[in-house]
Amino acid sequence: MRVLVSGGAGFIGSHVTVELFQAGYDVLIADNFSNCDDTNYNGVCKILGCEIPLVRMDFCDSAEVEALFNRFKIDAVIHFAAYKAVGESVAEPLKYYQNNLDSFLNILGQAKVHGCNVLFSSSATVYGEPEQCPVTEESPRLPATSPYGNTKQMCEDFLSDSVNAYDNIKGISLRYFNPIGAHPSALIGELPRGVPNNLAPFITQTAIGKREKLRVFGNDYPTPDGTCLRDYIDIVDLAKAHVCAVKRMLEDKMESPYEIFNIGTGTALSVLELITAFEKANGIKLNWEFAPRRDGDVTAIWADPSLANKKLGWKAERSIEQTLAAAWAWEKYICTLG
Ligand code: WQD
Repeated sequence: MRVLVSGGAGFIGSHVTVELFQAGYDVLIADNFSNCDDTNYNGVCKILGCEIPLVRMDFCDSAEVEALFNRFKIDAVIHFAAYKAVGESVAEPLKYYQNNLDSFLNILGQAKVHGCNVLFSSSATVYGEPEQCPVTEESPRLPATSPYGNTKQMCEDFLSDSVNAYDNIKGISLRYFNPIGAHPSALIGELPRGVPNNLAPFITQTAIGKREKLRVFGNDYPTPDGTCLRDYIDIVDLAKAHVCAVKRMLEDKMESPYEIFNIGTGTALSVLELITAFEKANGIKLNWEFAPRRDGDVTAIWADPSLANKKLGWKAERSIEQTLAAAWAWEKYICTLG
Protein backbone atom coordinates (compact mmCIF):
# COMPACT_ATOMS: atom_id res chain seq x y z
CA MET A 1 0.00 0.00 0.00
CA ARG A 2 1.39 3.41 -0.97
CA VAL A 3 0.90 6.47 1.21
CA LEU A 4 1.52 9.95 -0.19
CA VAL A 5 2.91 12.35 2.44
CA SER A 6 2.36 15.91 1.24
CA GLY A 7 4.84 18.22 2.98
CA GLY A 8 6.77 15.10 3.91
CA ALA A 9 10.11 16.94 4.09
CA GLY A 10 8.91 18.97 7.05
CA PHE A 11 9.03 18.39 10.80
CA ILE A 12 5.93 16.21 11.26
CA GLY A 13 5.90 14.77 7.73
CA SER A 14 9.45 13.43 8.00
CA HIS A 15 8.76 11.67 11.31
CA VAL A 16 5.53 10.18 9.92
CA THR A 17 7.43 8.95 6.83
CA VAL A 18 9.89 7.05 9.05
CA GLU A 19 7.14 5.36 11.06
CA LEU A 20 5.04 4.49 7.98
CA PHE A 21 8.02 2.93 6.19
CA GLN A 22 9.02 0.96 9.29
CA ALA A 23 5.41 -0.25 9.53
CA GLY A 24 5.70 -1.68 6.02
CA TYR A 25 4.00 0.96 3.89
CA ASP A 26 5.43 2.32 0.63
CA VAL A 27 5.87 6.06 1.12
CA LEU A 28 5.99 8.82 -1.47
CA ILE A 29 7.03 12.29 -0.30
CA ALA A 30 5.91 15.36 -2.22
CA ASP A 31 7.08 18.76 -1.08
CA ASN A 32 7.86 22.19 -2.60
CA PHE A 33 10.52 22.85 0.07
CA SER A 34 9.11 26.37 0.55
CA ASN A 35 9.35 26.03 4.33
CA CYS A 36 12.26 23.62 4.81
CA ASP A 37 15.55 22.50 3.29
CA ASP A 38 16.79 18.95 2.56
CA THR A 39 18.02 18.27 6.11
CA ASN A 40 15.03 16.24 7.25
CA TYR A 41 14.62 14.43 3.93
CA ASN A 42 18.30 13.41 4.02
CA GLY A 43 17.88 12.37 7.65
CA VAL A 44 14.87 10.18 6.78
CA CYS A 45 16.89 8.39 4.08
CA LYS A 46 19.77 7.88 6.54
CA ILE A 47 17.47 6.45 9.22
CA LEU A 48 15.73 4.12 6.74
CA GLY A 49 18.91 3.26 4.81
CA CYS A 50 17.31 3.94 1.44
CA GLU A 51 16.24 6.73 -0.90
CA ILE A 52 12.55 7.49 -0.21
CA PRO A 53 10.75 8.45 -3.46
CA LEU A 54 10.46 12.23 -3.58
CA VAL A 55 8.59 14.60 -5.92
CA ARG A 56 9.38 18.31 -5.66
CA MET A 57 6.07 20.02 -6.43
CA ASP A 58 3.52 22.62 -5.33
CA PHE A 59 0.12 21.35 -4.24
CA CYS A 60 -1.38 24.71 -5.20
CA ASP A 61 -0.74 23.78 -8.83
CA SER A 62 -3.75 21.66 -9.77
CA ALA A 63 -2.06 20.33 -12.93
CA GLU A 64 0.93 19.11 -10.87
CA VAL A 65 -1.37 17.43 -8.36
CA GLU A 66 -3.35 15.74 -11.14
CA ALA A 67 -0.12 14.54 -12.77
CA LEU A 68 1.08 13.11 -9.44
CA PHE A 69 -2.10 11.09 -8.89
CA ASN A 70 -2.03 9.88 -12.50
CA ARG A 71 1.61 8.84 -12.20
CA PHE A 72 1.38 6.95 -8.89
CA LYS A 73 -1.27 4.64 -7.43
CA ILE A 74 -1.97 6.29 -4.08
CA ASP A 75 -4.00 4.39 -1.46
CA ALA A 76 -3.96 7.12 1.17
CA VAL A 77 -2.71 10.68 1.38
CA ILE A 78 -1.58 12.43 4.57
CA HIS A 79 -1.72 16.17 4.05
CA PHE A 80 0.88 18.27 5.87
CA ALA A 81 1.77 20.77 3.14
CA ALA A 82 0.54 24.05 4.66
CA TYR A 83 1.81 27.22 6.29
CA LYS A 84 1.56 27.05 10.07
CA ALA A 85 2.79 30.20 11.77
CA VAL A 86 -0.10 31.67 13.75
CA GLY A 87 1.33 35.19 13.97
CA GLU A 88 2.31 35.31 10.29
CA SER A 89 -1.22 34.24 9.32
CA VAL A 90 -2.62 37.34 11.04
CA ALA A 91 -0.24 39.58 9.07
CA GLU A 92 -0.67 37.65 5.79
CA PRO A 93 -4.20 36.15 5.77
CA LEU A 94 -4.50 35.91 1.97
CA LYS A 95 -1.19 34.01 1.72
CA TYR A 96 -2.54 31.51 4.27
CA TYR A 97 -6.02 31.13 2.78
CA GLN A 98 -4.69 30.75 -0.76
CA ASN A 99 -1.94 28.28 0.10
CA ASN A 100 -3.61 26.18 2.77
CA LEU A 101 -7.01 25.94 1.11
CA ASP A 102 -6.03 25.60 -2.57
CA SER A 103 -3.53 22.85 -1.81
CA PHE A 104 -6.06 20.78 0.13
CA LEU A 105 -8.85 21.34 -2.41
CA ASN A 106 -6.52 20.09 -5.16
CA ILE A 107 -5.76 16.97 -3.15
CA LEU A 108 -9.44 16.33 -2.38
CA GLY A 109 -10.28 16.75 -6.07
CA GLN A 110 -7.83 13.98 -6.97
CA ALA A 111 -8.87 11.81 -4.03
CA LYS A 112 -12.41 11.93 -5.43
CA VAL A 113 -11.23 10.96 -8.92
CA HIS A 114 -9.02 8.10 -7.71
CA GLY A 115 -10.92 6.92 -4.64
CA CYS A 116 -8.08 7.69 -2.22
CA ASN A 117 -8.42 7.96 1.57
CA VAL A 118 -7.43 11.24 3.18
CA LEU A 119 -5.79 11.91 6.55
CA PHE A 120 -5.76 15.60 7.47
CA SER A 121 -3.30 17.19 9.88
CA SER A 122 -5.60 19.32 11.97
CA SER A 123 -4.83 21.13 15.20
CA ALA A 124 -6.15 21.76 18.70
CA THR A 125 -6.32 25.36 17.59
CA VAL A 126 -9.79 24.55 16.20
CA TYR A 127 -11.04 24.53 19.82
CA GLY A 128 -10.08 28.18 20.33
CA GLU A 129 -10.12 29.09 24.05
CA PRO A 130 -11.96 26.02 25.40
CA GLU A 131 -14.51 26.60 28.18
CA GLN A 132 -13.25 23.49 29.92
CA CYS A 133 -10.35 21.06 29.69
CA PRO A 134 -9.52 18.36 28.85
CA VAL A 135 -11.16 18.80 25.46
CA THR A 136 -12.81 15.87 23.73
CA GLU A 137 -13.64 15.55 20.03
CA GLU A 138 -17.18 16.65 20.99
CA SER A 139 -15.92 19.90 22.50
CA PRO A 140 -17.19 22.80 20.39
CA ARG A 141 -15.00 24.33 17.72
CA LEU A 142 -14.97 27.99 18.75
CA PRO A 143 -14.33 30.85 16.30
CA ALA A 144 -10.74 30.59 15.16
CA THR A 145 -8.36 33.07 16.78
CA SER A 146 -6.22 33.35 13.62
CA PRO A 147 -6.46 32.82 9.85
CA TYR A 148 -4.18 29.80 10.38
CA GLY A 149 -6.70 28.30 12.80
CA ASN A 150 -9.50 29.18 10.38
CA THR A 151 -7.81 27.25 7.58
CA LYS A 152 -7.69 24.20 9.85
CA GLN A 153 -11.42 24.46 10.59
CA MET A 154 -12.26 25.02 6.92
CA CYS A 155 -10.14 22.09 5.75
CA GLU A 156 -11.84 19.82 8.31
CA ASP A 157 -15.16 20.87 6.78
CA PHE A 158 -13.88 20.34 3.21
CA LEU A 159 -12.94 16.79 4.20
CA SER A 160 -16.11 15.92 6.11
CA ASP A 161 -18.38 17.34 3.37
CA SER A 162 -16.41 15.46 0.70
CA VAL A 163 -16.50 12.06 2.38
CA ASN A 164 -20.22 12.50 3.10
CA ALA A 165 -20.91 13.38 -0.54
CA TYR A 166 -18.59 11.00 -2.40
CA ASP A 167 -18.75 7.34 -1.44
CA ASN A 168 -15.30 6.47 -2.77
CA ILE A 169 -13.30 8.34 -0.15
CA LYS A 170 -13.00 8.16 3.63
CA GLY A 171 -11.32 10.70 5.89
CA ILE A 172 -9.79 11.20 9.30
CA SER A 173 -8.76 14.49 10.93
CA LEU A 174 -6.10 14.23 13.61
CA ARG A 175 -6.16 17.23 15.96
CA TYR A 176 -2.61 17.62 17.26
CA PHE A 177 -1.93 19.44 20.46
CA ASN A 178 1.63 20.79 20.76
CA PRO A 179 4.09 18.63 18.79
CA ILE A 180 7.63 18.82 20.23
CA GLY A 181 10.87 16.84 20.28
CA ALA A 182 12.86 14.96 17.63
CA HIS A 183 13.65 11.46 16.42
CA PRO A 184 15.92 9.50 18.85
CA SER A 185 18.50 9.22 16.05
CA ALA A 186 18.86 13.04 16.19
CA LEU A 187 18.88 12.95 12.36
CA ILE A 188 15.46 14.59 11.95
CA GLY A 189 13.67 17.20 14.02
CA GLU A 190 12.12 20.66 14.08
CA LEU A 191 13.89 23.21 11.87
CA PRO A 192 12.07 26.54 12.19
CA ARG A 193 13.15 29.17 9.67
CA GLY A 194 14.34 32.41 11.34
CA VAL A 195 13.25 33.19 14.90
CA PRO A 196 11.14 30.29 16.25
CA ASN A 197 7.52 31.09 17.08
CA ASN A 198 7.12 27.98 19.20
CA LEU A 199 8.34 27.38 22.73
CA ALA A 200 10.30 24.15 22.38
CA PRO A 201 12.65 25.24 19.56
CA PHE A 202 13.15 28.60 21.28
CA ILE A 203 14.22 26.72 24.42
CA THR A 204 16.77 24.56 22.58
CA GLN A 205 18.11 27.51 20.57
CA THR A 206 18.53 29.53 23.77
CA ALA A 207 20.29 26.58 25.41
CA ILE A 208 22.75 26.25 22.51
CA GLY A 209 23.36 30.02 22.42
CA LYS A 210 21.60 30.83 19.13
CA ARG A 211 19.15 33.01 21.14
CA GLU A 212 20.31 35.17 24.02
CA LYS A 213 17.29 34.65 26.29
CA LEU A 214 13.88 32.95 26.28
CA ARG A 215 10.98 35.27 27.03
CA VAL A 216 8.08 33.67 28.90
CA PHE A 217 4.96 35.36 27.55
CA GLY A 218 2.86 36.19 30.58
CA ASN A 219 2.95 35.10 34.22
CA ASP A 220 -0.45 36.41 35.27
CA TYR A 221 -2.71 33.78 33.73
CA PRO A 222 -5.26 32.07 35.99
CA THR A 223 -3.13 28.90 36.22
CA PRO A 224 -1.18 27.38 39.15
CA ASP A 225 2.08 29.16 38.28
CA GLY A 226 0.63 31.98 36.16
CA THR A 227 1.93 30.64 32.83
CA CYS A 228 -0.08 28.98 30.04
CA LEU A 229 -0.91 25.30 30.07
CA ARG A 230 -0.44 23.08 27.00
CA ASP A 231 -0.45 19.39 26.05
CA TYR A 232 3.05 18.75 24.63
CA ILE A 233 2.98 15.63 22.45
CA ASP A 234 6.21 13.89 21.48
CA ILE A 235 6.75 13.98 17.70
CA VAL A 236 7.46 10.22 17.49
CA ASP A 237 4.31 9.41 19.47
CA LEU A 238 2.44 11.76 17.14
CA ALA A 239 3.92 10.06 14.07
CA LYS A 240 2.87 6.64 15.35
CA ALA A 241 -0.71 7.91 15.69
CA HIS A 242 -0.68 8.51 11.91
CA VAL A 243 0.30 4.91 11.24
CA CYS A 244 -2.59 3.75 13.42
CA ALA A 245 -4.98 6.07 11.54
CA VAL A 246 -3.74 4.95 8.08
CA LYS A 247 -4.07 1.32 9.17
CA ARG A 248 -7.65 1.99 10.37
CA MET A 249 -8.55 3.55 7.00
CA LEU A 250 -6.84 1.00 4.75
CA GLU A 251 -8.05 -2.01 6.71
CA ASP A 252 -11.65 -0.72 6.61
CA LYS A 253 -11.91 -0.45 10.39
CA MET A 254 -13.58 2.98 10.35
CA GLU A 255 -17.03 3.24 11.92
CA SER A 256 -18.15 6.16 9.75
CA PRO A 257 -16.80 7.81 6.58
CA TYR A 258 -15.31 10.69 8.61
CA GLU A 259 -13.65 10.47 12.01
CA ILE A 260 -11.83 12.93 14.26
CA PHE A 261 -9.23 12.12 16.94
CA ASN A 262 -7.41 14.26 19.49
CA ILE A 263 -3.74 13.39 19.52
CA GLY A 264 -2.33 14.51 22.86
CA THR A 265 -0.97 13.08 26.08
CA GLY A 266 -3.91 14.13 28.25
CA THR A 267 -1.43 15.89 30.57
CA ALA A 268 -1.05 19.67 30.83
CA LEU A 269 2.31 21.35 31.45
CA SER A 270 2.90 25.03 32.06
CA VAL A 271 5.61 27.01 30.30
CA LEU A 272 7.65 27.03 33.51
CA GLU A 273 7.18 23.29 33.96
CA LEU A 274 8.46 22.69 30.43
CA ILE A 275 11.51 24.86 31.11
CA THR A 276 12.20 22.98 34.35
CA ALA A 277 11.77 19.61 32.61
CA PHE A 278 14.24 20.67 29.91
CA GLU A 279 16.80 21.83 32.50
CA LYS A 280 16.43 18.58 34.47
CA ALA A 281 16.56 16.29 31.42
CA ASN A 282 19.70 17.93 30.05
CA GLY A 283 21.47 19.34 33.12
CA ILE A 284 21.27 22.84 31.68
CA LYS A 285 20.30 26.14 33.32
CA LEU A 286 18.22 28.11 30.84
CA ASN A 287 18.42 31.89 30.52
CA TRP A 288 14.84 33.20 30.59
CA GLU A 289 12.73 36.13 31.82
CA PHE A 290 9.06 36.99 32.08
CA ALA A 291 7.63 39.17 29.31
CA PRO A 292 4.14 40.52 28.54
CA ARG A 293 1.45 38.13 27.30
CA ARG A 294 1.48 37.25 23.58
CA ASP A 295 -1.68 38.19 21.62
CA GLY A 296 -3.81 35.22 20.66
CA ASP A 297 -2.49 32.82 23.30
CA VAL A 298 -5.12 30.70 25.01
CA THR A 299 -4.71 30.25 28.77
CA ALA A 300 -5.01 26.49 28.83
CA ILE A 301 -5.75 23.61 26.50
CA TRP A 302 -5.06 19.92 26.86
CA ALA A 303 -6.56 16.78 25.33
CA ASP A 304 -8.78 13.98 26.43
CA PRO A 305 -7.10 11.38 24.14
CA SER A 306 -9.30 8.46 25.24
CA LEU A 307 -11.03 8.12 21.84
CA ALA A 308 -7.69 7.73 20.04
CA ASN A 309 -6.48 5.39 22.78
CA LYS A 310 -9.54 3.19 22.30
CA LYS A 311 -10.28 3.36 18.56
CA LEU A 312 -6.77 3.82 17.14
CA GLY A 313 -5.11 1.60 19.72
CA TRP A 314 -2.64 4.44 20.19
CA LYS A 315 -1.29 6.07 23.34
CA ALA A 316 1.50 8.59 23.96
CA GLU A 317 4.37 6.64 25.50
CA ARG A 318 7.47 8.85 25.68
CA SER A 319 8.22 10.83 28.82
CA ILE A 320 8.68 14.59 28.66
CA GLU A 321 12.29 14.09 29.74
CA GLN A 322 12.92 11.68 26.81
CA THR A 323 11.25 14.16 24.46
CA LEU A 324 13.31 17.10 25.66
CA ALA A 325 16.55 15.11 25.67
CA ALA A 326 15.88 14.20 22.01
CA ALA A 327 15.09 17.83 21.19
CA TRP A 328 18.42 18.88 22.73
CA ALA A 329 20.38 16.15 20.89
CA TRP A 330 18.82 17.34 17.62
CA GLU A 331 19.73 20.99 18.33
CA LYS A 332 23.33 19.94 18.91
CA TYR A 333 23.31 17.86 15.71
CA ILE A 334 22.07 20.67 13.46
CA CYS A 335 24.77 22.89 14.88
CA THR A 336 27.34 20.52 13.39
CA LEU A 337 25.74 21.03 9.95
CA GLY A 338 26.73 24.70 10.04
C1 WQD B 1 3.20 27.48 23.73
C2 WQD B 1 3.27 28.33 24.98
C3 WQD B 1 3.32 30.69 24.57
C4 WQD B 1 7.24 30.91 22.71
C5 WQD B 1 0.80 26.95 18.23
C6 WQD B 1 -0.35 26.77 17.27
C7 WQD B 1 -0.64 25.30 17.11
C8 WQD B 1 0.59 24.62 16.64
C9 WQD B 1 1.67 24.78 17.71
C10 WQD B 1 1.31 24.50 14.37
C11 WQD B 1 2.37 29.56 24.91
C12 WQD B 1 4.61 30.22 25.24
C13 WQD B 1 6.08 30.43 23.30
C14 WQD B 1 8.14 31.73 23.47
C15 WQD B 1 6.67 31.55 25.35
N1 WQD B 1 1.00 25.21 15.42
N2 WQD B 1 5.82 30.75 24.60
N3 WQD B 1 7.81 32.01 24.77
O1 WQD B 1 0.82 28.80 20.59
O2 WQD B 1 0.28 26.71 21.96
O3 WQD B 1 0.38 26.53 19.49
O4 WQD B 1 1.92 26.19 17.84
O5 WQD B 1 1.33 23.32 14.21
O6 WQD B 1 -1.67 25.12 16.17
O7 WQD B 1 -1.50 27.37 17.79
O8 WQD B 1 2.47 26.89 20.78
O9 WQD B 1 4.88 26.77 21.32
O10 WQD B 1 3.96 28.88 20.27
O11 WQD B 1 3.40 28.36 22.63
O12 WQD B 1 6.39 31.84 26.54
O13 WQD B 1 9.20 32.21 22.98
O14 WQD B 1 4.60 28.83 25.13
O15 WQD B 1 2.91 31.93 25.12
O16 WQD B 1 1.84 29.81 26.19
P1 WQD B 1 0.93 27.33 20.78
P2 WQD B 1 3.76 27.74 21.19
